[in-house]
Amino acid sequence: MSSSGRHILTAPAWPYANGPRHIGHVSGFALPCDMFSRYQRMAGNQVLMVSGTDEHGTPIQVQADKEGVSARELADRYNRVIAGDLHALGMSYDLFTRTSTRNHYAVVQEIFKGLYDNGYIFPQTTMGAISPSTGRTLPDRYIEGTCPICSYDGARGDQCDNCGNQLDPIDLINPRSRINGETPKFVETEHFMLDLPAFTDALGSYLRSKQGEWRPNVLKFSLNLLDDLQPRAISRDLDWGVPIPLDGWRDQPNKRLYVWFDAVIGYFSASVEWARRSGDPDAWRAWWQDPEALSYYFMGKDNIVFHSEIWPAMLLGYNGLGDRGGEPGSLGGLNVPNEVVSSEFLTMEGRKFSSSRQVVIYVRDFLERYDVDALRYYIAVAGPENQDTDFTWQHFLERNNNELVAQWGNLVNRSVTMAAKEFGTIPEPGELGDADRALLERSRGAFAAVGAELNRSRFKNAVTEAFDVVRDANAYLSQQEPWKIKDDPARKGSVLHVALQVVDDAKTLLTPFLPKSSGKVHEMLGGQGDWSGMPELREVDEDGVSYPVITGQYDDEARWEHRPIKPGTPLSKPTPLFTKLDPKIVDEELARLEQA
Ligand code: MF3
Ligand code: ZN
Repeated sequence: MSSSGRHILTAPAWPYANGPRHIGHVSGFALPCDMFSRYQRMAGNQVLMVSGTDEHGTPIQVQADKEGVSARELADRYNRVIAGDLHALGMSYDLFTRTSTRNHYAVVQEIFKGLYDNGYIFPQTTMGAISPSTGRTLPDRYIEGTCPICSYDGARGDQCDNCGNQLDPIDLINPRSRINGETPKFVETEHFMLDLPAFTDALGSYLRSKQGEWRPNVLKFSLNLLDDLQPRAISRDLDWGVPIPLDGWRDQPNKRLYVWFDAVIGYFSASVEWARRSGDPDAWRAWWQDPEALSYYFMGKDNIVFHSEIWPAMLLGYNGLGDRGGEPGSLGGLNVPNEVVSSEFLTMEGRKFSSSRQVVIYVRDFLERYDVDALRYYIAVAGPENQDTDFTWQHFLERNNNELVAQWGNLVNRSVTMAAKEFGTIPEPGELGDADRALLERSRGAFAAVGAELNRSRFKNAVTEAFDVVRDANAYLSQQEPWKIKDDPARKGSVLHVALQVVDDAKTLLTPFLPKSSGKVHEMLGGQGDWSGMPELREVDEDGVSYPVITGQYDDEARWEHRPIKPGTPLSKPTPLFTKLDPKIVDEELARLEQA
């Protein structure tokens, strides 16, 4: 990590440990955050990128029951699978951990206590469902019945999939247990509530200060929520999760904190864990307490409310900055998010991704058949950045063959091949003409333009502008036709020098999107050292259980700047950067979807 620049926390949402990730998931929370983080490191900032698997609550319990294992076994299984998926995507986490660690439990309980001591958490009696035959509580999702709003008969206790409304199980008409069909009994149960109304003013000024900075859809949605803030239950009748750290509650086997309450704290607890692993237990403070530090959170749109409202409210409350006042908790005040960057949804060949209906392509299967940079490029240029977007295999094929292979791969290949064959090294530039200078200037000028787009998480614009440099360089070669220059080696050398310089610039501009292939170009042009760092998977253990974390050094060569190439550097014949795909993959992939 370099020692200058700003401290920037980059925070991709925590995937539920309830199944492998598909490309719809990673197009939202994962790849945009990695592109942003790589850019910020190249620009000289000190990035801390932390996340992990989200392992508590009903989403995990439901899947565990389906697979016939305990919640803990399920979380262990998918933590490993997901860490493998994200590592394979080149996600440059400083730490990818999990929410079932001792550290996470301790930090979550500390934040709870800070909020409680400041008066922002209070107990309340509500009605909860139990199964009459077992006496066990029935989580909301296990109850179904008729929707009181639209009369759909398959509504669940937490929401109706037909009309989309959030429900309370007690509102369902003819409620029944999805486990054994019996009618649940509703009994009084006590829960802790987060006093969201006490943050209406603080959240209002926080959100209004983001006007013009955040994507308009995120801001508008978040501001609308302020009109009707209600206290929100932050505990559940469940045996899997973080215990409530108060006397009389701590030892109750069936009271746990709500999964979303613990998960958002993960960003902070993972920073604390990272600091401890790095050997300086206080190192997290530079990202969480320095008022100059910045933080960016990345997610799909179904996560916005938790990051733009609930998490900021929790932090404000811990800091003592809601209507009830208070003091910062024992760790000191913590920074609220600077930006919540949310993607829309990706669909698959016109349908919603669905693991159960097999409308899906998992990351692992994708990467077995296609290059990681082909996926990263597709998501950057055609992902769901501002609107719901459909992934089709035909478009993927076209982007790969017409853009990555025919434009960028071809530019690299023909300029390096020709220079290697005719000169054996990077040729000296002779006297440059207008066309040469114009291309060089244009490519240097792209650093500011593309960087400004990346800094605002406008990935589509950024990658398109970087690619325009590639297109212009190809047009330049077609005009100059160096392959036709027979008896003017100096001119030929100049043209190839210019082309190679622009190849070098373009590989830098494309690094946040295509770190692996940019690394190859760096080597081709005689660059030394690691270009853009790759994450590593490492086994760690706690209480005798071994599990993987993703970490990395990222003290690499990549800088966001034009660097003059060195004439005389030896060149050899390049190997292709990308694989041209056979059009028949489209039918093959569609057949895979149909069969399933
Ligand atoms: N697990 C949630 C989901 O997949 C995201 C949690 S983000 C967190 O939708 F920060 F709260 F963990
Ligand atoms: Zn309904």
